[in-house]
Amino acid sequence: MEDGFTKVCRVSELSENQGKRFLINDVDIAVFKVNGEIFVLNNVCPHQHTSVIYDGFVEDGCVVCPAHGWMFNLKTGKQPTGARGLDSYQVKIIDDEVFAIVKAKELKW
Ligand code: FES
Repeated sequence: MEDGFTKVCRVSELSENQGKRFLINDVDIAVFKVNGEIFVLNNVCPHQHTSVIYDGFVEDGCVVCPAHGWMFNLKTGKQPTGARGLDSYQVKIIDDEVFAIVKAKELKW
């Protein structure tokens, strides 16, 4: 799409409170549906750089990394402490389709 949005999946493919993993524009992402709302986050936990966020469980508006329990806000990707978080991506729903603006993180040296 010209506005930077890329099609990710269908809303009907997603289960409530359960993440799903996709590779979009070479970025590993985790998509969640919580109370009917869709959230798209980077799938790679900043703790040990493991691609497991999609497998985390949802609690209090956060996803909890299944490896060691770091929590990330579903909307912002931030940890409750404000420490290193996940990238979160802008989402748009058209009919049954989920679109997101997914960009690789720029490396900062
Ligand atoms: S890898 Fe996610 S909390 Fe350790």
